[in-house]
Amino acid sequence: MDITGRTKVVGVFGHPVGHSLSPPMHNAAFAHLALDFVYIPMEVLPERLPDALRGVIALGMVGVNVTIPHKERTAELMDEITEEARLFGAVNTVIHREGRLLGDNTDGRGFLRPLMAEGFDPRGKRALLFGAGGASRAVAITLARQGAKVIIANRTEARAVELADRVNRVCGAGAAEAIGLDAEPLARITEQADLLVNTTSVGMLGNPRKTLPIPEESLHSGLFVYDLVYNPLRTPLLAAAESRGCRTLGGVKMLVHQGALALETWTGAEAPIEVMEAEVVSRLSSPTD
Ligand code: ATR
Repeated sequence: MDITGRTKVVGVFGHPVGHSLSPPMHNAAFAHLALDFVYIPMEVLPERLPDALRGVIALGMVGVNVTIPHKERTAELMDEITEEARLFGAVNTVIHREGRLLGDNTDGRGFLRPLMAEGFDPRGKRALLFGAGGASRAVAITLARQGAKVIIANRTEARAVELADRVNRVCGAGAAEAIGLDAEPLARITEQADLLVNTTSVGMLGNPRKTLPIPEESLHSGLFVYDLVYNPLRTPLLAAAESRGCRTLGGVKMLVHQGALALETWTGAEAPIEVMEAEVVSRLSSPTD
């Protein structure tokens, strides 16, 4: 599609941003919908973030996504933030409205939508989360707000405790608890869990190819396994879960849905989920990537 003086501009601020799949994913959606929008990746150094965000207004952009390492700081630089962005302490989507910046966070809903679409309703369920970083925070709070009991296991146990405290403050005492990575309690909790979510980078291409610190036998057929890692599409955890008869979801779904929610806010159009997913998958499968 031609870029003209009328083309509306969105994009992503990150550091690094070179490998982001968001530009092709969003541009494929714009082309499919015949929307006169363009999505541009922008490398933004942390010390330049305030200037870059004011630039969204100065340049008349419709909005931006922000990614690592800018999500937390962006929340502090908004004129207004949504309830979810406040609860997660992070923004991933900025919306420019008449000279003001609204910060939203679509990670929680982007995580939840595909899970619900698979028929998994978190209410009353036990969810075991691996990891206690930014992604885990959005997932933990989202699941607890849906009425799940959340158990957080992390390599650095103090971060798991900190996140569980935050979830309990936000969602009520008893919503979450933290555990270490000791094999025996972890295996027992896995056996009692309904949902297992990996929010760490373990299993990601280029990272240690080891799986998570649970024996494969504790993955039972009543367990839903959701790995937020999307490269490779079939992670070692997902492969193990499938072989144990678990229902599974890979991280591409969350990537696509968090993007789709941002696109819908910016354009008012319904996002073409299948088109976006196909674009991402084609790039992940490409041997030249
Ligand atoms: P994100 O915003 O993607 O969640 P993050 O805030 O850097 O990223 O968090 C990364 C998570 O992956 C953390 O929970 C981290 O564990 P620590 O808190 O102990 O650092 C976890 N993680 C990363 N690499 C790991 C590894 N090799 N083994 C276990 N956990 C790992």
